[in-house]
Amino acid sequence: MRIAVFSTKPYDRTSLEEANRDHGHELAFFEPRLTPETAALAEGYEGVCAFVNDQVDARVVGKLAEGGTRTVLLRSAGFNHVDLRAAAENDIAVARVPAYSPYAVAEHAMGLILTLNRKFHRAHARVREGNFALDGLLGFDLHGKTVGVVGTGKIGTVFCRIAAGFGCRILAHDPYPDDEVRELGARYVELDELFAGADIIALHLPLTPETHHLVDAAAVERMREGVVLINTSRGGLVDTRAVIEGLKSGKIGALGLDVYEEEADLFFEDLSGTVIQDDVFARLLTFPNVLVTGHQGFFTREALAAIAETTLGNATAAERGEGELHAVTLEDVKG
Ligand code: NAI
Repeated sequence: MRIAVFSTKPYDRTSLEEANRDHGHELAFFEPRLTPETAALAEGYEGVCAFVNDQVDARVVGKLAEGGTRTVLLRSAGFNHVDLRAAAENDIAVARVPAYSPYAVAEHAMGLILTLNRKFHRAHARVREGNFALDGLLGFDLHGKTVGVVGTGKIGTVFCRIAAGFGCRILAHDPYPDDEVRELGARYVELDELFAGADIIALHLPLTPETHHLVDAAAVERMREGVVLINTSRGGLVDTRAVIEGLKSGKIGALGLDVYEEEADLFFEDLSGTVIQDDVFARLLTFPNVLVTGHQGFFTREALAAIAETTLGNATAAERGEGELHAVTLEDVKG
């Protein structure tokens, strides 16, 4: 298949070229994000490979269809950025990478918790300056604390296992409870009970119209004083303005984010020489108890190799009907 790869970074190129040795597709790498303005680059390419901040809305899908694209190959698990209705209307198949390394994201989530709690980032900076004072670095034992896990799919389950290993109690919430999670000692509860009972809350559910701003001002109000909130899923799950108010009042004791509502304008680029125009994001960075990483939860060698392999496998399945096509349809949104 001739495939136009958008939002290409050097590491994408390396992993896709490596995996392509077994698939033999014709790959063209484009650095720009997929937008209505750049969609024309895909003209004549049967496949378009897109990442999380590429725009796959109705306008773009229409342009891709006009240019002869038949398959959109998402190199991500999440598909909230795709207009599936427009894709179906234009007879464009959409495939994703349902699972690559749940460990990568779950371990990153625990890394955020450990760093926020024990303040590794501040300790590192201090020690390098010859400052060995401990004031301000006080943390708490994770052992015995209650962790609330919203969404116990692939990543949430691994996260529960990690948290159980630390000796945490686990409250879980998911419309489809999982026996493996129960066997770890987790108790499935309603969202309100989870918010009210957890010392640490980790979000591992997809962004859908129903879960948009799941954490809003009312949710923050219900949480424990000093709660640690972790979001490695999708920015839109959290109302950023509401959590900023929660941080200012002290209700939220620490916030770890790997995703941000308006990340498309910021993440994956080196903007160190420019002035950040997003005042809400800039405010987040002023808090000593906020740690933001730029959507790097997936970023391990194992995950990149698995993403590349499944993405190109999807192209092979779409083209030759060989192997499994991990298609996403409107049914997945309803489900
Ligand atoms: P998954 O599909 O295996 O699990 C999602 C779980 O959320 C399912 O069990 C589902 O029943 C549950 N869920 C759906 N609606 C819910 C609701 N309203 N309340 C509670 N639970 C609900 O997905 P997986 O692989 O575990 O990924 C989770 C999310 O992590 C993805 O949707 C994606 O947005 C994000 N992600 C982030 C990455 C990063 O680099 N930061 C990388 C990969 C995924």
